[in-house]
Amino acid sequence: MSYTAKPTIQVYKGWNTFYEKPVDEKLDFFTRDGRLFDVIFAQQFDRKFLDYICRLADKVRQLARTKMGAEKLRHLLPHKRCMLYFVQPSTRTFLSFLNACHILGLNVSESRGTSTSSEVKGESQEDTIRTFASYMDLIVARHPEAGFAEKTAWVLNRTDRPVPIINGGSGPDQHPTQALLDIYTLERSFKDIGGLDGKKIAMVGDLKRGRTVRSLSYLMKNYADITLYFVSPDIFKMKPDILGFLEKHHIPYHETDDFESIMPLVDAIYMTRIQDEYADDATRETGTYPEFDFKKAHLSMIQAHCALLHPLPRRYEIEVEVDQDPRAAYWRQERNGMWLRAALIAYVFRVDDEILKEFT
Ligand code: CP
Repeated sequence: MSYTAKPTIQVYKGWNTFYEKPVDEKLDFFTRDGRLFDVIFAQQFDRKFLDYICRLADKVRQLARTKMGAEKLRHLLPHKRCMLYFVQPSTRTFLSFLNACHILGLNVSESRGTSTSSEVKGESQEDTIRTFASYMDLIVARHPEAGFAEKTAWVLNRTDRPVPIINGGSGPDQHPTQALLDIYTLERSFKDIGGLDGKKIAMVGDLKRGRTVRSLSYLMKNYADITLYFVSPDIFKMKPDILGFLEKHHIPYHETDDFESIMPLVDAIYMTRIQDEYADDATRETGTYPEFDFKKAHLSMIQAHCALLHPLPRRYEIEVEVDQDPRAAYWRQERNGMWLRAALIAYVFRVDDEILKEFT
């Protein structure tokens, strides 16, 4: 007979006080020697870092094209081990991190649920993560709870074996590495027209619970002259904390439920699905919202250079016939995630110089 004990809830003195602090006041805690150590929030990335990580991802991609280059990459980190702790479903974040590790030669262990770990015997989440840190040099965590990656990094940084934590998605809160690959995709899409600066970007769908649009919105402060258009049904409007952040950083935004009216205006459209896994009453919110879908007929309404992004997975919000259009960037975006995450892991382990050296 299977038995699952109640999870042990451990009390960590000081955690609640730390968690309540504004993010700006916490950034130093996740930094070592002026470099990112843990990757928890999109607010950790400044323009210099964003430009650097995109350049590094380009170099990883370029090197990996040849057998000799791929071998050089594979010899960078064979002495390091990475734990992929993904206890919320994932296809592309998991696989792109897994393959990013393979590109750099890391050994990888994985847990994709709690049912086969000692968490069924009541071991706490924090002790589970400490156990990973006993064997691994890096932990990538995807978890349904907001704040999970932050707490585990806070716990580990106070032990004698702190290993870096990368947030692979924390509930409806943040998905910082998705934001990095979104920036990388936008910059590549606009490389012949001045990059991301000065562009108008629409974010469409469930903006209230979509962690990808939240993290991407934070990054907009790093670019000049951005205008955002938030397009959603009334019940899924962007939350006030993000709107307040944009106001504080003087980033103009417009909210609308008229998708077609903004299509001709924007340089990029970032589609999202309804995130009903976070619904209070899932049966109430499983409806579709066809007026917020991008259809083949809309291709004639957008600009010739407009980039169509989606973090994926999608349901009905982009018709499959749109995939054939060169402006549909979402499958490229997905693959960009692997190169970008390989660059991030190389940066975390400080072998980024060795990659760039190949090009001097
Ligand atoms: N974009 C994204 O996070 O996809 P997965 O949930 O499949 O990882």
